[in-house]
Amino acid sequence: MLELKDIVVSFKKEVQKKIFGTERKTVLHGISLAVRKGESLGILGESGSGKSTTGRVLAGLLKPDSGVVLIEGEDVYAGSKGREHLRNRLSIVFQDYTTSANPRFTIRQVIGEGIAVGARKTGEKIDYAEETARLLRLVGLDESFAKRFPHELSGGQLQRVCIARAIVCRSELILFDEAVSSLDAHTQVQIMDLLLDLKEKLGLTYIFITHDLTSITYFCSRVIFLKDGSVVADSPVSELSKLDVPYAKELLGAVLDFNAESA
Ligand SMILES: Nc1ncnc2c1ncn2[C@@H]1O[C@H](COP(=O)(O)OP(=O)(O)OP(=O)(O)O)[C@@H](O)[C@H]1O
Ligand SMILES: [Mg+2]
Repeated sequence: MLELKDIVVSFKKEVQKKIFGTERKTVLHGISLAVRKGESLGILGESGSGKSTTGRVLAGLLKPDSGVVLIEGEDVYAGSKGREHLRNRLSIVFQDYTTSANPRFTIRQVIGEGIAVGARKTGEKIDYAEETARLLRLVGLDESFAKRFPHELSGGQLQRVCIARAIVCRSELILFDEAVSSLDAHTQVQIMDLLLDLKEKLGLTYIFITHDLTSITYFCSRVIFLKDGSVVADSPVSELSKLDVPYAKELLGAVLDFNAESA
């Protein structure tokens, strides 16, 4: 459905060398991966390994130095058509949900923006009040939340609103960048259960970026390990224990030790 081929990304280094020009630091060294329709793909790696950069390239927000991004075979960065195609398919839910909703908007308006995007795509006539109430219920919030402002919601509640907005845009593909990482464990599980439920109901595809393997084993069907800007492993979650990659084993080992301790 969505594919990365040999993606290379570099950024300017802050220190500029006068004689040799500007030095660049390569952060993605030829990343290739494919997102299949209907799957829940985890992208895992430690801080600085290039997960968010990969996410931005996947989402059409960052043009790579070289390599190709294809949405259903169409090149995302070759022209406006491919990018438009991707925008129509994909929504993003970021880690920092507190800044991803306009603080001056009520929840009704935040969701209303998404409804407008969805309505433009499908050409349907939508009753905004009814649709807002339906969506709030869908993500497990009371309708009365519609008149509140973002700062009047807890982190978990606001993240649910962001998920509702992503869904109402009629995107089939949702990219989550550490979207549940800062929530407490109980709320994380609630939101992941909600997402799994919505995925079933609406036939969605997920890309789930995180540094937390536990949530990947709970949530994803396949996982890609990133290390220093390269893919070091790509495995179905059910076959993780068979992986013969030192870095993946290290991460897995840490989780297994932790589980053994807490058992
Ligand atoms: N706009 C930018 N300009 C310069 N360097 C950047 C920029 N964005 C990212 N980097 C660098 O690219 C590397 C990868 O960053 P990235 O944000 O993709 O990592 P990450 O895996 O998402 O980390 P984290 O788990 O901490 O979110 C880092 O070394 C980072 O400093
Ligand atoms: Mg990141």
